[in-house]
Amino acid sequence: MVKKGADIFRMAALDCVKKEGRFVVAISGGSTPRPMHRLLAEDPYYSEIPWDKTDLFWVDERCVPEDDPASNFGAAKQNLLNRVPIPVAQVHPMPGDLSPEEGALTYEREMKDYFRVKEGEFSVFDLIYLGLGNDGHTASLFPGHKALEETKRLVVAVKGGDPHVSRITMTYPVLNHARQIVFMVSGKGKSPVLKTLFENGKDLLPAQRVRPFQGKTTWLLDREAASLLSEDMVHD
Ligand code: 6PG
Repeated sequence: MVKKGADIFRMAALDCVKKEGRFVVAISGGSTPRPMHRLLAEDPYYSEIPWDKTDLFWVDERCVPEDDPASNFGAAKQNLLNRVPIPVAQVHPMPGDLSPEEGALTYEREMKDYFRVKEGEFSVFDLIYLGLGNDGHTASLFPGHKALEETKRLVVAVKGGDPHVSRITMTYPVLNHARQIVFMVSGKGKSPVLKTLFENGKDLLPAQRVRPFQGKTTWLLDREAASLLSEDMVHD
């Protein structure tokens, strides 16, 4: 799973830079992505990924200081940013040090400026990595939250999750405008929610509402996470 995640990153980066001269990717927090972040900082990925043409955004962030263990940016700095030559100006952390609403508005402005989106349009990311919580949340879109119904804002402030803190999160309109979505899910603890997600067929869980309008969605699962799925659902 980890290597596949890194291979997709490299392939998308090389393809996008070749076609458009840049690669714009957003990453999630939590623990699952960390091994991939560390792998991206090692050869062959270190030397083959065009870091100088890569712009890195975050899908969500906890409203905590960067040195707080809960900070997604803080973790990415340790596992990736401090180890690869991505220009600082091309690293776009969500402001965890402002009030949640201010942080959401600030990041939304940064995304609108970067992508030069007009009113009513949405940023189109080349690639977005997402995780999956045991409750079926993704990003910081938690079951029952009004953020799930947001259709205009690109970024909103929420409170929830574990740790139960204020957060800033991208919304479904942004996620569903992505060219490519990759979910990475690992561990036995996620096997029940994956079974529900793939077998209940209705849009019950927040992660099920990530359906890119024109993009491709890939699910990368390790064996433990996939252990309750039927054989025909899973392929290497
Ligand atoms: C966050 C993440 C969140 C995460 C899932 C899975 O900031 O918490 O973006 O959506 O991807 O909660 O987290 P783990 O990878 O730690 O299981």
